Amino acid sequence: MTARLLEGKVFAAKLREEAGQKAAELKEKYGITPGLAVIIVGENPASQVYVRNKHKACTELGFYSEGVEMPETTTREELLAEIDRLNKDEKIHGILVQLPLPKALQPYESEVLEAIDPLKDVDGFHPVNVGRLVTGQKALVPCTPHGCLRMLELADIPIEGANAVVIGRSNIVGKPMLHLLLGKNATVTICHSRTKNLAEVTRQADILVAAVGRPNFVTADMVKPGAAVIDVGINRIAPKKLVGDVDFESVKEVAGAITPVPGGVGLLTIAMLMQNTVEAARLQLE
Ligand code: GUN
Repeated sequence: MTARLLEGKVFAAKLREEAGQKAAELKEKYGITPGLAVIIVGENPASQVYVRNKHKACTELGFYSEGVEMPETTTREELLAEIDRLNKDEKIHGILVQLPLPKALQPYESEVLEAIDPLKDVDGFHPVNVGRLVTGQKALVPCTPHGCLRMLELADIPIEGANAVVIGRSNIVGKPMLHLLLGKNATVTICHSRTKNLAEVTRQADILVAAVGRPNFVTADMVKPGAAVIDVGINRIAPKKLVGDVDFESVKEVAGAITPVPGGVGLLTIAMLMQNTVEAARLQLE
């Protein structure tokens, strides 16, 4: 192994500590305790685990946390009414609707996300926050890519002037990652399933972010020697076996720094959600 291992737990601890400090400041200056509401509709087992972890993180930092469990049969109107109630609740500074929604509600996903008050949109999925990120204004930013950016900064990996390549163009990771890196003055290229000569492009990357959702997709021949490789993929290839989008075993011999899966950037997401909840509480004061 030649690459430096970027362990999620090290950076997640730092990001949680920052969230705790910012929350303490809010409490001291304004008497405010940050509050997060997580809505989960139906009984997706993976979602239930995420929601429990979010609640635990809130409790550990002394945040107010409200879990709203709604049945699989919930209607569009019932879900919108719940969001409306939370939009008006002064104890709640952040609202997150856990995705994916049950099949019957999926046609309304955009409408549901747009019903959240943009100032409480701790996922950063509302078009107002997307637009603010793209135009370089203060915004609530999606947790996973924001966590990746903060990790690069905390690990002292140079971003300004670097060639950054993002593989994957999702609204949750790829596109916000592009804008975050651009905002830090990287030269950014975004690749996807139709990109020609992908390996040629990725080999130019000083920073390579993989968010495609394909197990072991990025191989050593696609990586520039010494590059920082950030693996956002979480692919279950057997009941108890998770792998990333990066072929860790071969890439770790070429890269300068690499995140493992599991134990990599996945741990940063909840830490950033805590930071976004504090940030949302602050924005609501302005
Ligand atoms: N499901 C998986 N990841 C996420 C996320 O970041 N936000 C929400 N709301 N749902 C998710």
